[in-house]
Amino acid sequence: MRTDTPQTIYRKDYTPPAYLVDTVELGFDLDPETTIVASRLTMRRNPDSTEAGIELYGQNLKLVALRMNGATLREGDYRISSNVLRISKAPDQVTLEIETLTSPAQNTTLNGLYVSNGNFFTQCEAEGFRCITYFPDRPDVMAKYTVMLRADKQKYPVLLSNGNLVEAGDLPDGRHYAKWEDPFKKPSYLFALVAARLVCQEETFKLMDGRDALLQVWVEDGNLDKTDYAMQSLKNSIRWDEERFGLELDLDRFMIVAVSDFNMGAMENKGLNIFNTKFVLANSRVATDVDYAGIEAVVGHEYFHNWTGNRVTCRDWFQLSLKEGLTVFRDQEFSADMIGTDSGRAVTRIEQVRTLRQAQFPEDAGPMAHPVRPDSFVEINNFYTVTVYEKGAEVVRMYQTLLGRDGFRKGMDLYFKRHDEQAVECDDFRAAMADANGRDLAQFERWYSQAGTPVLTASGKYDARWLTFELTLSQSCPATPGQPDKLPFHIPVAVGLLGADGKDLPLTVGGKQHGGTAVLELTEASQVFRFTGVKEEPTPSILRDFSAPVVLNYPYTDDELLHLFSHDSDPVNRWEAGQRLAMERLLKLTAASAHGSKQELDDTFIEAMRKILVDESLDAAFRENALLLPSETMVAEQMEVVDPQAIHRARQFMRRVIGERLRADLHAQYDANLTPGDYSPDAISAGKRGLKNIALAYLSAAPDEHSDALARRQFDEAGNMTDRVAALVSLIHSESAGAALALEKFYDEFDNEALVIDKWFAMQAAAPGTDVAMVRSLMRHPAFTLKNPNRARSLLFNFANGNPAQFHAPDGSGYAYWAEQVMALDKLNPQVAARLARSMDRWRRYSPALQAQMKTALQKVAGAPKLSNDVTEVITKALS
Ligand code: PHE
Ligand code: ZN
Repeated sequence: MRTDTPQTIYRKDYTPPAYLVDTVELGFDLDPETTIVASRLTMRRNPDSTEAGIELYGQNLKLVALRMNGATLREGDYRISSNVLRISKAPDQVTLEIETLTSPAQNTTLNGLYVSNGNFFTQCEAEGFRCITYFPDRPDVMAKYTVMLRADKQKYPVLLSNGNLVEAGDLPDGRHYAKWEDPFKKPSYLFALVAARLVCQEETFKLMDGRDALLQVWVEDGNLDKTDYAMQSLKNSIRWDEERFGLELDLDRFMIVAVSDFNMGAMENKGLNIFNTKFVLANSRVATDVDYAGIEAVVGHEYFHNWTGNRVTCRDWFQLSLKEGLTVFRDQEFSADMIGTDSGRAVTRIEQVRTLRQAQFPEDAGPMAHPVRPDSFVEINNFYTVTVYEKGAEVVRMYQTLLGRDGFRKGMDLYFKRHDEQAVECDDFRAAMADANGRDLAQFERWYSQAGTPVLTASGKYDARWLTFELTLSQSCPATPGQPDKLPFHIPVAVGLLGADGKDLPLTVGGKQHGGTAVLELTEASQVFRFTGVKEEPTPSILRDFSAPVVLNYPYTDDELLHLFSHDSDPVNRWEAGQRLAMERLLKLTAASAHGSKQELDDTFIEAMRKILVDESLDAAFRENALLLPSETMVAEQMEVVDPQAIHRARQFMRRVIGERLRADLHAQYDANLTPGDYSPDAISAGKRGLKNIALAYLSAAPDEHSDALARRQFDEAGNMTDRVAALVSLIHSESAGAALALEKFYDEFDNEALVIDKWFAMQAAAPGTDVAMVRSLMRHPAFTLKNPNRARSLLFNFANGNPAQFHAPDGSGYAYWAEQVMALDKLNPQVAARLARSMDRWRRYSPALQAQMKTALQKVAGAPKLSNDVTEVITKALS
């Protein structure tokens, strides 16, 4: 919560801490109303610092006692102002003893120590530890922790913290204790405790070096039937990191704890990962294929942080992508390797590209655009973004593309050799990659320092006499806030050339021979690459496997795109060709719809879609992705002035025509991709369900009796949540007479499963028929609460971000509603409120009439009393 005017913090102002902490002993007397926290810190002056005094951060704490080297400090010996406690005169060696009080039950921010369903949890990243005790709460202060927990034994039978359990026992008055010791130095943001009534699934697991590790997944009673997949994913993660990177679990015990009130996905606290229930709990009855994939990815992600984040951490929060970009890349590679096939790997890559276009490119083009390594922030919580995470992962992936898998591994090895147990910078990672491979990666630094999505413009010229193909590649990057001009990036551009038969031509470029794909390195504003020995005029396939996070412009003809869509050996570019064909048409249809002229879809496109749909030599998952049209948000990003309703009509029209024209083939593929028998979340089965369900979605977009009966039957008879949800969505979107009853049945069947009720709200929020008035009435449902982030997101975020035609209603009612909810959420949970505030980022791209209403809503929020720093930063940047 804001105490005075928000201050901007700059990366360039970094100074090392004046004092280092060697050991931390923490004692907790846990009570929901008043918890007593006692801390003993051994500190010493930092030889690398020129500053004098000790600086501790603390927020919403009541200070009870403060002693330095045994002597009580009084006001005057120390000063507290704006959440900083300063002791200006201190000896070189210091033992500080601090006693503070905090009220977990009153803490609705879910940051620091809080209560969820009667249990205690902590969340310390980024700056939550200062809500627990006064401490130099910054990631470059790494210390060894010992933690004593005391609590009522009946209410909180389970007491957990980081590292190893060293002692436990009973205390008077029905209380008990547990003492935990973490053998590794860590920054305070990785501290965690849990005091709760929970149960666990556990097993011992043999590590690479023969040691046994105890693995546990802790959940509330009644959820032990939903922990198998998380446990399996944890074991797979441990094995994978050993095999791919030679990295072993460094602890004897590794715990995952699920909590239903959580701001983010999960948190990598050392040895005690705390997870949003959404990324732990699954069985076929309640979880979809997408949920299963999410669990595998997030369990992997948090586990991989143990090395990339925990053993080697960030010097300061500007370096956040050092751990997040790298760890997202690692979890992406893990998920791809778990599928195992090249085509399965390509589908994961397609999904990553979709996320970038759906969320990161818009961020990079809007008022919150920032470099992967930001230069400034007001509230660090606002910088846990798709840029830091997903674009950061793309940056890491480019090292691997440039250096090869082995070269990348060498760089990783050197990184750990140099920096184990240190807090370092993004530049240190880049230096390790460069030095391990004897490469100059100086220019590559611009991927960290320059915001904005680069635009790669390509053109080709074939010379039949000399058998050459000249590919001219040029780059530019749009201005972003604070960065009017950009310098050229070092861009790996993977290129193949297709012959008329659709096969890759052998490549020789710059005298060097390649296989079917050459990785060109564009470093100048413009460069010409000359392929020699090209026997026929080729169709270029540029940016294969999406080799860089850029927008590619190439003047493809429809025929060339159809050729690539039918033949490209690179599945990502094959998919991409289909997306380009669809996008061109969606834009034309949108314009036609806006002008009220006749909408038409050409046979060529429909036949191309049919060919993919029925091509059984292709994986079902690939076909599903190829049939999935660019989202309304992606279309909006291509328009100068966004017309949400016209986009919606155009996309619906296209879906309906596909449904009508391919009806027989869609029915046939539906039948051919049933997955009878026991549910399995594996990629092949999930792919079949995906294809079958997109067939159902198209059929329902052109509803007739058969499609309606099919959706109803699937809803009634489905043996898993994936098929249930798909059927229900089809019924809702086609405005079937059966939709209302199905929704009611769904609710009654799952009213005990919070994560399924979230889906129930989410499906309705995103339905084209749901307007603001209906969202308001859903908010009055007894199961709705703003206090639970998953529930708030399921309704508010899915409406604001997933239902653009209704959210942007011409009367501005969506914006007024948005403003109300941002302000209401801000009182409870500023972090979640600030995320909702981001839904207005792109407001300047709408018609003047909509802009005016959006501006009014933004100003309304800006003028609200006692607005948090979090929301203030987002709104101020949007309005600036
Ligand atoms: N560090 C967490 C992750 O990416 C995300 C997180 C940030 C969780 C802040 C909670 C609070 O895995
Ligand atoms: Zn992370």
